[in-house]
Amino acid sequence: MAELQYPMPPLADTVVLLRPWRTEDVPGKLMAFGDPLVQQFAWSRTTAYTEADARDYFVEQETARRAGHALTVAVADPRDEATILGGASLYDVDRETERAGIGYWLAPEARGRGAATHTVRLLAGWAFSALGMKRITLTCGPDNDASQRVAGRCGFVREGVLRSDVVFKGGRRDSVVFSLLPGELR
Ligand SMILES: CC(C)(COP(=O)(O)OP(=O)(O)OC[C@H]1O[C@@H](n2cnc3c(N)ncnc32)[C@H](O)[C@@H]1OP(=O)(O)O)[C@@H](O)C(=O)NCCC(=O)NCCS
Repeated sequence: MAELQYPMPPLADTVVLLRPWRTEDVPGKLMAFGDPLVQQFAWSRTTAYTEADARDYFVEQETARRAGHALTVAVADPRDEATILGGASLYDVDRETERAGIGYWLAPEARGRGAATHTVRLLAGWAFSALGMKRITLTCGPDNDASQRVAGRCGFVREGVLRSDVVFKGGRRDSVVFSLLPGELR
């Protein structure tokens, strides 16, 4: 599948700027992603997140982007794009079935001001308009209330629970699945 190009100019508004990850972001990502809430909900392994994990992630995501399967961005401060607020990605992008998944996380100090909501709006809007996606899914743990509120604010519809859906923290975890169709983004 054709590689996915980063939107140019980068997707941005007054709250977030979505740009490619850079090697110099590794320490910032390491610090932000090591936050207990991120580790609880967005890190599936039992081992602590390390610098090697951050570096491996950049390489994996670049491979997926080149293969046309994913577009992963740093969520940066639009007033200072070196400041990392969090991360987000469109993943499992399938141009044939016109479906993709969306995921996100924020550093603790970036929460509570709509950064995740703005990120999802920008990224999902772009997936519909530029990639022609017809269905975007968002999955999260049943106890991840903040993430479910992001989904609701953006117009996603809760479809149900996928039982024993993912390998997580040495066991398995259910997922709540939401979907967004063209015209539903709020
Ligand atoms: C999920 C997560 C990104 C949500 O962060 P968040 O700060 O609650 O979400 P937003 O950035 O959209 O901010 C929304 C909050 O800011 C408030 N807010 C302030 N200004 C806002 C604005 N302009 N637009 C939207 N919300 C705004 C909202 O009222 C909301 O607060 P509430 O949920 O208490 O009502 C965060 O909890 C996180 O990083 N968790 C760990 C990783 C994770 O779980 N990732 C998802 C895996 S599925």
